[in-house]
Amino acid sequence: MNDTKIKTPYYITTPIYYPSAKLHIGHAYCTTIADAVARFKRLAGYDVFFLTGSDEHGQKIQRTAESQNLTPIEYVDKIVASFQELWKRLEISNDDFIRTSEPRHHAVVQEIFRRIRDKGDIYKGEYTGLYCTPCESYWTELQLDENGCCPDCHRPVEKVSEEAYFFKMSKYADAVLKHIEDNPEFLEPKSRRNEMINFIKQGLEDLCVSRTSFNWGVPVPDDEKHVVYVWFDALTNYLTPIGFLDDAEKFKKFWPADLHLVGKEIVRFHTIIWGCILMALGIELPKKVYGHGWLVIEGDKMSKSKGNVVDPMLLIDEFSADAIRYFLLREINLGQDGNFNRDALITRINADLANDLGNLLHRTLNMIGKFQGGILFAATDGTELDKSLKAEAVETAKEYRRLMENMQISDAVKLVWKFIGRTNKYIDETLPWKLAKDETQKQALSNVLYNLAESLRIISILISPFMPTTARRIHEQLKINQPFEEIQLDDAEIFGKLEINHKVGKPEQLFPRIEVK
Ligand code: MSP
Repeated sequence: MNDTKIKTPYYITTPIYYPSAKLHIGHAYCTTIADAVARFKRLAGYDVFFLTGSDEHGQKIQRTAESQNLTPIEYVDKIVASFQELWKRLEISNDDFIRTSEPRHHAVVQEIFRRIRDKGDIYKGEYTGLYCTPCESYWTELQLDENGCCPDCHRPVEKVSEEAYFFKMSKYADAVLKHIEDNPEFLEPKSRRNEMINFIKQGLEDLCVSRTSFNWGVPVPDDEKHVVYVWFDALTNYLTPIGFLDDAEKFKKFWPADLHLVGKEIVRFHTIIWGCILMALGIELPKKVYGHGWLVIEGDKMSKSKGNVVDPMLLIDEFSADAIRYFLLREINLGQDGNFNRDALITRINADLANDLGNLLHRTLNMIGKFQGGILFAATDGTELDKSLKAEAVETAKEYRRLMENMQISDAVKLVWKFIGRTNKYIDETLPWKLAKDETQKQALSNVLYNLAESLRIISILISPFMPTTARRIHEQLKINQPFEEIQLDDAEIFGKLEINHKVGKPEQLFPRIEVK
């Protein structure tokens, strides 16, 4: 084995979530996509660092905690524990979980604030502005919606006047605009790029980066009656766990981030504000910010205030994490909004998981057990049908790699299921139970059964970023000797890796059918 090969680093992040309410299935969507990408990259041989976390400061959290007679940290501790529990249940494979309340993060925020202030790009002034507390965002008169409310959440804004620090965003506006225009891969999908270009062209004002009206936040260095504005605090989380302050080698390895995956409403913060902060620090911008669409219910964004949230924990209890992951990754095209619908979820589970995938595994292992005592015998090149299945397996694995590298996750899922469909059809075309009755067809039968087991081995690799538990269960039922964790995408691009005389296991059901009342 060649362990000396240096792996290419890959740093991927989700947004850090507000502990203001329970997470809903929309949040789980964002994290599931990031997890699928992280798992795919590991499979493809990258040295992955995958970060998620919680964005704990701000007036809203302080007020909510007070209303429950709790200190802010008591309040967030409880909620953050529930996030971590959810990510565990959903099999999210993050390498670190950053909490903005942690000392390691405070140190980074203060250092960044200090560096930018020392070079004169943060200055003290007087702020009067319109602030949306739920969104932690300042808005200008022009940006408000038709009712004079927050353009994002449509709730009332407050007029705030206070001594404050300002960050000279205006100084970096042209440079960020140029960066977005010159680097098409920096901001995807394209539609979001155009939105941001138009936004900057309207002119960027300096950004108010401190508050004095509450104290739940990171204190401004040497001026502790101010706390740092939550977005300035939150965005810098991406630097904290990769050694910005304490491990230069690690930082050099993982920065610039390869991908900040964020929802479409926070693209502005991740490209413009974050871009300006990094430029002020003289640090490279991330390679890519991808703004995904929203998961909606009947066309409306899920939110607690609208009372239309779907609890991911209950869904996992009812249907399993893999089924939920499958639905989210398959049903929604990454750049667009997608509908969450329980009936559609159940249809997918029954048709794609219980039927297509579950039956393929069950029939295959059953036949190998019944006709060959569970043993795979030597296979030959076989018929045209055999050859075409083998070619399609390898082509599928290669095309899958291309789609996943391109963030076409839903297309990659559909491609694997097309191959699953093809393999099921191969059983119907080759009729192994007939071959088994004919002594002269022994070799033909061995070929078919071998090709089916091989196809399943490849399928289990390709689905592992989407459905890690199911992939492992297939791997175990096939009794593959190589440890599951060591499997690489390269192993899916070669047909014929299962050894001759290999003994497979007995079939166990992957997904029970859901009875629809
Ligand atoms: N705390 C900020 C992010 C700071 S990052 C430096 C925040 N938090 S959030 O909890 O409100 O949202 C986190 C992510 O969840 C965002 O990317 C947001 O788009 C995503 N989603 C929230 N509701 C969603 C849906 N209904 N559908 C898809 N994603 C959704 O913003």
